Amino acid sequence: VTAGAPCFDDVTGMREALCEARTAGASVGLVPTMGALHEGHLSLIRAARAENDVVVVSVYVNPTQFGPSEDLDRYPRDAEGDRELASGAGADLIFSPSTREMYAADHSTWVEVEGLTSRLCGRTRPGHFRGVCTVVSKLFNICRPDRAYFGEKDAQQLVVIKRMARDLDTGVKIVSCPTVREEDGLAMSSRNQRLTVEQRSQAPVLYRALKAAEEAIGAGEREAGAVIDLVRATLTQAPLGDIEYVEIVDAENLTPVATVAGRCLVAVAVRFGDVRLIDNLTFSV
Ligand code: PAF
Repeated sequence: VTAGAPCFDDVTGMREALCEARTAGASVGLVPTMGALHEGHLSLIRAARAENDVVVVSVYVNPTQFGPSEDLDRYPRDAEGDRELASGAGADLIFSPSTREMYAADHSTWVEVEGLTSRLCGRTRPGHFRGVCTVVSKLFNICRPDRAYFGEKDAQQLVVIKRMARDLDTGVKIVSCPTVREEDGLAMSSRNQRLTVEQRSQAPVLYRALKAAEEAIGAGEREAGAVIDLVRATLTQAPLGDIEYVEIVDAENLTPVATVAGRCLVAVAVRFGDVRLIDNLTFSV
């Protein structure tokens, strides 16, 4: 048995452990994850460690956010490794429920954020954000955190969860943390380990394309269409990648912009085989 933070697989046990801490006046930070932890997750756990008395890491591959033809069965899992890594980064408690524990057989309540979720990834992943918002709401209800930590790589998820937390008066402060990258620029993602050697060698093209956008915007380009063309041209340098989208949107409401102004997000999604990679950069001009 690996040493590490106590791990709960039931809602009641998790609640009771946190109830004791809260009664003693402790603040609670929650880091929701789907496991297969990497440096990106560990940076969230360290941020939570720095700001809260108790740090909970949830490790749960949430089936309701996967579409029928997506990679739920192939999503990487490593319970013992996750426990060790999470504990090393400062987790006090781990919540790792089964799907039977999380979803009653007759579960029928969903959390839907309208508008924001029909754009970008929402177009090709119908129901994805409904699954994310539902499970995150449940995690908030179970753990009742003061703060919850999410990575900026999933920029749309972050905007959607912030909206949900505000709209539902959760009282949870949503803290965003910068994307952590491999040395060659590839944004860390649990899905990276599913890339073949050849796909992995081409995957840094996402970051290169975003840096090309950064350079163009830095040099004064303001026409979104021209920046998008440049990003697409860079992405096509990777023959194994299929571009799903390249968009420039307002960073707050995710609507496409014609002119790069204010806070904008340049966001890309590219498929390498059945592995879908996303990345983004935010610009303030
Ligand atoms: O970003 C993720 O890993 C998941 O979407 C989350 C927030 C843990 C919900 O399952």
